[in-house]
Amino acid sequence: MIDLRSDTVTQPTQQMREAMLAAPVGDDVYAEDPTVNELEQRVAQLLGHEAGLFGVSGSMCNMLGVRLLVEPGQEVVCDVQAHIARAEMGGHAAAHGLTMRTFPSTRGRLELAEVAKIISPSAGPYLVSTAAVAVENTHNFGGGTIQPFDELGAVAELCREHGIGYHLDGARLWNAHVATGVALEAYGQLFDTVSLCFSKGLGAPVGSVLVSTADSIARARVLRKRLGGGWRQAGVLAAACLYALDHHVHRLADDHAAARIFAEAVAGSVSTAVDPDSVETNVVVIDTGTTPAARVAAGAAERGVQVSALGPFMIRAVTHLDVTADDCEWAGQLVGKLLAA
Ligand SMILES: Cc1ncc(COP(=O)(O)O)c(C=O)c1O
Repeated sequence: MIDLRSDTVTQPTQQMREAMLAAPVGDDVYAEDPTVNELEQRVAQLLGHEAGLFGVSGSMCNMLGVRLLVEPGQEVVCDVQAHIARAEMGGHAAAHGLTMRTFPSTRGRLELAEVAKIISPSAGPYLVSTAAVAVENTHNFGGGTIQPFDELGAVAELCREHGIGYHLDGARLWNAHVATGVALEAYGQLFDTVSLCFSKGLGAPVGSVLVSTADSIARARVLRKRLGGGWRQAGVLAAACLYALDHHVHRLADDHAAARIFAEAVAGSVSTAVDPDSVETNVVVIDTGTTPAARVAAGAAERGVQVSALGPFMIRAVTHLDVTADDCEWAGQLVGKLLAA
């Protein structure tokens, strides 16, 4: 089976498992796990922030990052396809009592004008006050879209002018960094809070890190425990993340190349399904035309290729550590043939 449903499906490598086995550990609720502490410090430093907090998932670190900036009853503004709006089970509202408003986007791409149109900072007693803007880079449901650096900076400036916060869902910031060559620190400097995942393209089994100021991370530590996310000898998991940081970042370029190969193979059969030039990182979004996406996904699965049906006529394929370029070419040819049939 060639599994392209997500880059979360990878198995930890043997070397990663050995690093986990060898990790010195302690009780992280007492902040005494040396491996967790090392991971938090390294990621904070990479992003140019004061401190970091290791959390169980991207969703948890997004919830904490947004909550640091938005009080109950206030709103965070994001695009209509944002993971925080669509796929975090309403956790921001259910656990933290905040509301969300969304602006339209093409492929998830950030546009200053759309953000400027929708925000209502310090709105007094008539409207919900916008307390933060959240951006996703790369953009998952948009198709692995890289946010233009200038636009990220322009929105940072807008947030500063209005005194509102700025959160980055950087679950796949690594992919943006590798594809553009923009330093992680340059991205990090624009934002008040950034969450980054290790369980996507980097191939770790579990884990995300939130970075911010030391004071904010101290608050986030309390909020994390309130969510039941205080963990103990979590160094066994942090060791996998440290291993991924050292060995799996630069190879993301291979995933990007494989995604393009997949798209070219699909387009070789049905050119309207996907434009290979639109593939920026490791996510490929395919328009199934008039064929229901679920039927294409089921047909592919029967023949050994798994993809996700993400909309009635949209499928998504994501490349990762556990598939080769040849796998992706073969899978693309298969999906192309199914679409052409
Ligand atoms: C852009 C983005 N943000 C956040 C998350 C949430 O990560 P997790 O599944 O670890 O909660 C995902 C998961 O796929 C994602 O794609």
